[in-house]
Amino acid sequence: MKACPFGTHRVIEPEGVLPQPAWKINNSMNTTYDNEIMIDVTHLNIDSASFRQIKEEVGADEEKVAAKIVEIVSERGKMHNPVTGSGGMLVGTVAEISKKMSQKHQVKVGDHVATLVSLSLTPLKIERIRKVHLDREQVEVEGKAIVFESGVVVKLPNDMSRSLALSVLDVAGAPIQTARLVRPGDTVMILGAAGKSGVLCSYVAKKMTGNVGKVIGLIHHNDRREELEELGFCDTILQTDATDTVGVYRMVHDATDGELCDVTINVVNTANTEMSCVLSTKEHGNVYFFSMASSFTKAALGAEGVGKDVNMIIGNGYATNHAAYALDIARENKKLLELFNKRYG
Ligand SMILES: NC(=O)c1ccc[n+]([C@@H]2O[C@H](COP(=O)([O-])OP(=O)(O)OC[C@H]3O[C@@H](n4cnc5c(N)ncnc54)[C@H](OP(=O)(O)O)[C@@H]3O)[C@@H](O)[C@H]2O)c1
Repeated sequence: MKACPFGTHRVIEPEGVLPQPAWKINNSMNTTYDNEIMIDVTHLNIDSASFRQIKEEVGADEEKVAAKIVEIVSERGKMHNPVTGSGGMLVGTVAEISKKMSQKHQVKVGDHVATLVSLSLTPLKIERIRKVHLDREQVEVEGKAIVFESGVVVKLPNDMSRSLALSVLDVAGAPIQTARLVRPGDTVMILGAAGKSGVLCSYVAKKMTGNVGKVIGLIHHNDRREELEELGFCDTILQTDATDTVGVYRMVHDATDGELCDVTINVVNTANTEMSCVLSTKEHGNVYFFSMASSFTKAALGAEGVGKDVNMIIGNGYATNHAAYALDIARENKKLLELFNKRYG
């Protein structure tokens, strides 16, 4: 049976929209279409902003988090957090694929793969939750998922564990877009520098800006300061709450002798940090909002409100070659790989 390449044939409510903005999609695994790929799912990586919100709502308790995930997926047919609007991604094994899709996506039945399209649009059926890893936002499951023709699937690398690859691939859009934005000599700030994407972006920022440039890492708590110092990617580490807009601006002003930043990268997992980025960026500089907790309205109206002419970029989760680039970045630096193995491996 022929179906829509973007997956609209699975949308239940409201009719006619794409699967991502849909409230509910059909997660039946009894019938598949010839342009769908069925995956036996083993791990979910819940988007950081979503996982944090769930923990805040139900408590940092494995069973309660598991129950909330099951509730969302049963209600919506996908792991689409109704509060944050974000998803995550998954890994598993290809269970069913047509010849045409196999050629197009270069995968076959039995391949271990990661899907690089958001869980917020992926039909998902969870049969059982085996384990919730509260420390790394991952969930071991038994279940099935569908990838549409327009989706992105990559084979998992065989030189790293599934959970490590999953954590790198979850944020694969960020490092490659950092590389596109940062020029030699730039001053770059990363808000959330000690987090998963923060560490990857800090490394890429230092690599691109070189020794003449400067990388400022902003961290929330001091518990990961030592790890970040040990990596050596950030020339300056500032510790504060990124929602304290004027406080952040003053710190960045002082750290840059009033020059501010050429590029500001937001990889925090909490709301209300847009204006800390905007105020800390030079006139005509770039602000890259990778954080799923970013608000277009707050950024656009806030920048207008302070008369600040900065380019603001929405952190598209997809970029050409992003998966290979992110995995290479993780492999390239020994200390970075060790840290990722320790945290997520
Ligand atoms: N655009 C996309 O396609 C895409 C894809 C994947 C993920 N994301 C988003 O990218 C962001 C980062 O993801 P991740 O996996 O790297 O998350 P992560 O590892 O959990 O890191 C988030 C970091 O933000 C910091 N943070 C939280 N609140 C803060 C505050 N008030 N002030 C300063 N720092 C604060 C955290 O520090 P503490 O732990 O000390 O609080 C943590 O280091 C999330 O918003 C996620 O939703 C976007």
